[in-house]
Amino acid sequence: MLREALRIGSRRSYSYKSVRRPNLSAVSGAKHVDVQDKQKPEQTVTTQSDGNGKTTLTRQLTAKMLATGPITVAEYMREVLTNPQGGYYMNRDVFGREGDFVTSPEISQIFGELVGVWLMNEWQKLGSPSPFQLVELGPGRGTLARDVLKVLSKFKTGAQFTMHMVEISPFLSKAQAQRFCYKHETVPDEAQLPYYQIGTTASGTQAYWHHRLEDVPPGFSLVLAHEFFDALPVHKLRLVNDQWQEVLIDVAQAQSTGSKSADFRYVVSKAQTPVSRLFKPVPQETRNYLEYSLEAERHVGILAERLEQHGGIALIMDYGHFGDKKDTFRGFKQHALHDPLLAPGTADLTADVDFRLIKHVAETRGHIHCCGPVQQGDFLKRMQGEVRLEQLLAHALPENQNIIRSGYEMLTNPKQMGSRFKFLAMFPGVMADHLDKYPVAGFG
Ligand SMILES: C[S@@+](CC[C@H](N)C(=O)[O-])C[C@H]1O[C@@H](n2cnc3c(N)ncnc32)[C@H](O)[C@@H]1O
Repeated sequence: MLREALRIGSRRSYSYKSVRRPNLSAVSGAKHVDVQDKQKPEQTVTTQSDGNGKTTLTRQLTAKMLATGPITVAEYMREVLTNPQGGYYMNRDVFGREGDFVTSPEISQIFGELVGVWLMNEWQKLGSPSPFQLVELGPGRGTLARDVLKVLSKFKTGAQFTMHMVEISPFLSKAQAQRFCYKHETVPDEAQLPYYQIGTTASGTQAYWHHRLEDVPPGFSLVLAHEFFDALPVHKLRLVNDQWQEVLIDVAQAQSTGSKSADFRYVVSKAQTPVSRLFKPVPQETRNYLEYSLEAERHVGILAERLEQHGGIALIMDYGHFGDKKDTFRGFKQHALHDPLLAPGTADLTADVDFRLIKHVAETRGHIHCCGPVQQGDFLKRMQGEVRLEQLLAHALPENQNIIRSGYEMLTNPKQMGSRFKFLAMFPGVMADHLDKYPVAGFG
């Protein structure tokens, strides 16, 4: 089936166009803004600093801390990323050379194409259930969805499907619609529907935008999450005398002296917090200092329940570890590390994904069969990425060949994104025997 898929790609390689992607040599640390849409949504950045160099969010968060005390790292991260006024993701394009970071789908079309081929391959092995829903969590600029759609249209399965984007950012949801829909419109709040935007793709597929995963209707789903889980808030916990304590964020003392250093500082909670009280580490836990994402756990719980009740497949792709890292919370601005406590709202905040936790929750909460995590480079190579690379090179203009080659290298080289990024697949537990007999592609 996989071979067949690649043959389809190769036979139709003239119509299976190479899409212009960034010249990586021009991007330090990799990233670029490759918006090919003629119309870009208007950016309304509200993170400008006042005369003292304080952002809107700095002032809001300071006022809150002064009034009610320090806040959790998770609350800080949530406000900084998704506050409706000054949240980092909410009102502008943050990707690419002019932004702060680049993601795999933006680097090479090979990424999205192989993910699309993988999805179709596994879906057909499950008997091609139709209709189905293509769900993406945190679609960014919509580039992955667009490349996956392209693959789905090549398969010509005749299956009925709808698209469901789970996106919190009003700005990015418009950018996504402009990337893969020929028309779209906002759904007014008064309509009280579980989606806030609808669109139609060139091939007539209906697309819906939801604020939350819970709002995606029930049904057999193919779910993608690329660099979504790393954006979910984390709590920082440390074990002292057999009791978990939570690290919080408070106003920096230096602030009153007019220092230009970070606006906030870490403090350890004197009393137990709701999370430090309720936190249950996985049975194998040996760390005494860790990051824990209640939001990641909640999302995986919902996904697991959905897959079990309605069937489907989920593919989680992100940078992360298997329960062995302690301190990964950081900021990213203009392709460089940034102090997460400085000028909130002006930089991305992120934490490595704990794949051990995800796997544990999926397996125990929803009896899910997990594959992986495996390294991105291994997954893409097993999916015959090099065959696709050769096809693209064979039809590329000479001046584009280096860009295509270096993009693939960046995705797969273990010294670049090949080993830091991991893939984890989730299937309903009842499929376990079937999947043992017909192993899941890309996972070794
Ligand atoms: C790091 S970007 C990844 C974008 C895209 N998947 C890619 O790889 O290019 C994170 C995405 O998740 C969205 N996002 C962040 N937190 C979210 C939340 N709580 N609910 C829904 N979407 C969220 C952001 O707006 C953005 O689209």
